[in-house]
Amino acid sequence: MIKTENKTIMHKIKYLLFICLLSVCYTNGVFAQGTEHISILNAYNRASVSLDGQWQTIIDPQEQGYYDYRYLPKNNGFFQNRKARNKTDLVEYNFDTGLPLHVPGDWNSQQPELLWYEGTIWYEKSFSYMRKDGQRTFLHFGAVNYEAKVYLNGKKLGEHIGGFTPFSFEVTDDLKDGDNFIVVKVDNKRRIDGIPTIISDWWNYGGITRPVKLVEVPQTFIQDYLIQLKKGENNRIDGYVKVAGSNASQEVRISIPELKLTKSFKTDIDGYAKIEFSQKVDAWSPENPQLYDVQISMGEDSISDRIGFRTIETKGQDILLNGKPVFLRGICIHEEAAYRGGRAHSPEDARVLLTWAKEMGCNFVRLTHYPHNEHMIREAEKMGLLIWSEIPLYWTIQWENPEVLANAKNQFTEIYQRDKNRAAVILWSLANETPLGDSRLKFLSGLAEYVRSMDDTRLLTAAMEMHEKEDDPGTIIINDPLGEYLDVLGCNEYYGWYGTLPDKCRNLTWTMEYDKPLIMSEFGAGAVYGMHGEKPDRWTEEYQEYFYEENLDMLRKIPFLRGTAPWVLMDFRSPRRPLGGVQDYYNRKGVISDQGNKKKTFYTLKNYYQEVKNTFK
Ligand code: GCU
Repeated sequence: MIKTENKTIMHKIKYLLFICLLSVCYTNGVFAQGTEHISILNAYNRASVSLDGQWQTIIDPQEQGYYDYRYLPKNNGFFQNRKARNKTDLVEYNFDTGLPLHVPGDWNSQQPELLWYEGTIWYEKSFSYMRKDGQRTFLHFGAVNYEAKVYLNGKKLGEHIGGFTPFSFEVTDDLKDGDNFIVVKVDNKRRIDGIPTIISDWWNYGGITRPVKLVEVPQTFIQDYLIQLKKGENNRIDGYVKVAGSNASQEVRISIPELKLTKSFKTDIDGYAKIEFSQKVDAWSPENPQLYDVQISMGEDSISDRIGFRTIETKGQDILLNGKPVFLRGICIHEEAAYRGGRAHSPEDARVLLTWAKEMGCNFVRLTHYPHNEHMIREAEKMGLLIWSEIPLYWTIQWENPEVLANAKNQFTEIYQRDKNRAAVILWSLANETPLGDSRLKFLSGLAEYVRSMDDTRLLTAAMEMHEKEDDPGTIIINDPLGEYLDVLGCNEYYGWYGTLPDKCRNLTWTMEYDKPLIMSEFGAGAVYGMHGEKPDRWTEEYQEYFYEENLDMLRKIPFLRGTAPWVLMDFRSPRRPLGGVQDYYNRKGVISDQGNKKKTFYTLKNYYQEVKNTFK
């Protein structure tokens, strides 16, 4: 019982930690003035009014819709959505005659003149609404890249920083019956104190890139819940339900019809109900992606979710899924839509990318280098793909800036809040290719501690770099001190592409200073689909195939290797790849072209994964 008490206390501490973090962020300007930022769990399944579709926009590179000519914030900015009252009135903007853009969607791929645009674009949406008695309404954004200032009927609701995580504002008392309008100032300028920071090998797609909806809930509603297997136990369900809007004890019911199960629990004065009960379940796995319909009800509110149950842990150099060693047959994926380009955002976009991964024989995807949209997570879970999820702590971050650490914690918190009930997510990655240093280690070890305090059930990892031993070239050592804080080590290597040729792989031996599993979290070479030649001819499909043949031979010899995530599923846009006639501002390391053409390497990997599937025990 004591244990149970501890767990209840732990969940309360986590929630209070979350609230404290929000207030820290709030005071640090991460959320500026405005309505408190409340996370609405499972907006995905909530009754809602969609605000997707055409929004009116104004391109504003000098942010004159927000600052006056002395660069001071205006009180009559574009957020007022003013109209000229008569022929004499001077109003120098009008959303009605602005540029129509589709939401969800980045602006870069919607208008040729916006392909390279980095700056502010104002979005406006007018809509009519009828409030209902006893109902609370939240304005929910799937994501806005990178900084959003949100206004409803001219009143500022708040701000959000971070381009890939959901956020919401309560608007119950700000909505009017009849006509309303939302204005969002979206700014995707790169910033040295940002996450990601000022350089990244992907396109800086700006905009309201994921769905926007008005989520409607009763006065007292189910705000949050965690329903997963208890850490290390196969048949014990653990978690909590959090009720908002009442300080009286409420009865909460959990039912799982396929298991003929209904359990009731009581919330405490904080609205918390500890959930814990024994129940034999059919474990979720890539081979058996079993999802249960879980219904949670309380008073007049109810919500359903599709939840899988599994355990994930490590034992020495093994990763154990449901207690059995697993080899992660993966691929790295950027959130870029096949064929049309731009940010992927729909279930169809997700299914195209993930179906290719399944065709290759994957049981695992590394969703790089930022949290992907919720359809990617839920479709991967349905298809039986394990997930590596990461926030964009990429390359050179301002490790000594406390606001950057607060931003990192907030981005992780928001993606944890969204995906904590997703069985497919097994790895939280802290960083990608970050340079060794004391301040970086202090930052990331502190972040690791924070992540574990919120989620001690999933595995921590990071994509790190390695180097050859000075006194023994040819022997690679993985000894990044960050490894001490991780459960699984990720390593990016490009032997055969950057600075070396593929035959270099033949003389390399790998060693590691940790008795932990290793995932080769990136390795890849560029090729233009349809460009052919001899093996040594750079940019041909033959060179890319040669790269993989040599690298896979090398990887087969690493005894502590427990996963591979080749770089990358599909060619993707990058401002760092200008080579005309070859890259044309695309990173060409995809095994599939951006138009869905499979290169020879796709089949090389497919054969390798069939081999691994047959031999790994
Ligand atoms: C790095 C980085 C990727 C990048 C890749 C490349 O490992 O993590 O984001 O695209 O190398 O050079 O293609």
